[in-house]
Amino acid sequence: MTDDGSLAGAIAVVTGAASGIGLATAHALAEADAAVWLVDRDAEALADALDSCRGGAQHVAWHLDVTSEAGWLDFFAAVDERHGRLDILINNAGAAHPQPIAQTSLAEWRSSLAVNCDSVFLGTRTMLPLLARSLPWSRRSASAIVNVSSVRGMIGGANFAAYCAAKGAVRMFTKAAALECVALGQRVRVNSVHPGFIETPLARAALDPEALARRVSGIPLQRGGNAEEVAAAILFLASEASSYMTGAELVVDGGTLAG
Ligand SMILES: NC(=O)c1ccc[n+]([C@@H]2O[C@H](COP(=O)([O-])OP(=O)(O)OC[C@H]3O[C@@H](n4cnc5c(N)ncnc54)[C@H](O)[C@@H]3O)[C@@H](O)[C@H]2O)c1
Repeated sequence: MTDDGSLAGAIAVVTGAASGIGLATAHALAEADAAVWLVDRDAEALADALDSCRGGAQHVAWHLDVTSEAGWLDFFAAVDERHGRLDILINNAGAAHPQPIAQTSLAEWRSSLAVNCDSVFLGTRTMLPLLARSLPWSRRSASAIVNVSSVRGMIGGANFAAYCAAKGAVRMFTKAAALECVALGQRVRVNSVHPGFIETPLARAALDPEALARRVSGIPLQRGGNAEEVAAAILFLASEASSYMTGAELVVDGGTLAG
């Protein structure tokens, strides 16, 4: 992001861009004039999401299951052919299905790890060569990966064992990736964002109305967050404004972890 807040000339990828935090992030990047690739497995919602993006650049919708290694390779080829580089990767796609450990099958456990954690590994590994080729739109800036973890990657939660395990892994993967990029001399910063309770379809699906009310009453700011408030933190980590941050974690939780 240049001093005027513009991301003009930057190429960005957002996974899980058809809904919630990913959609708000795609909007924020597009409004800053980045060219955004919106990636999701929900083709119908993705088309609407693409239509809703504004800004001065041309955006693209790409249908991808982020747990698919072959799918990521096809996506790499498309971005490489069109731009030959990438400046911003937001690994945001994820899903939460609360379940007691005793009732979680191995297939369900693996599915949670796949969508929340394998996806971040696959996205990073596949797109890193393009990020390393970034020609920063601002000369001081490195390219940036932002991984969307959760406060559940920092503290536990009953019935969220598989989700907590996956999000905790994303948190530590982020730090290891940040240091590896430095060790390899790649100008790529890697940071994570940790939302608390954010009122999106994912959060509403994960909690019944009673649990939802309990959750909100325990938040110091006394409300759930909204997707735009998380998108603002993601935009910060993706932009020049955070040029001295790598391997860091940014909590966006209404004060939940402060006490
Ligand atoms: N909402 C919250 O309270 C909250 C809190 C902490 C962390 N998060 C994290 O934020 C991220 C976004 O969550 P959200 O609340 O916006 O959810 P959401 O359900 O509104 O959006 C998630 C998007 O990811 C897509 N997606 C899911 N699995 C996919 C796959 N395999 N391949 C491609 N796309 C896939 C969905 O189609 C959807 O469009 C997730 O990683 C979630 O774990 C959310």
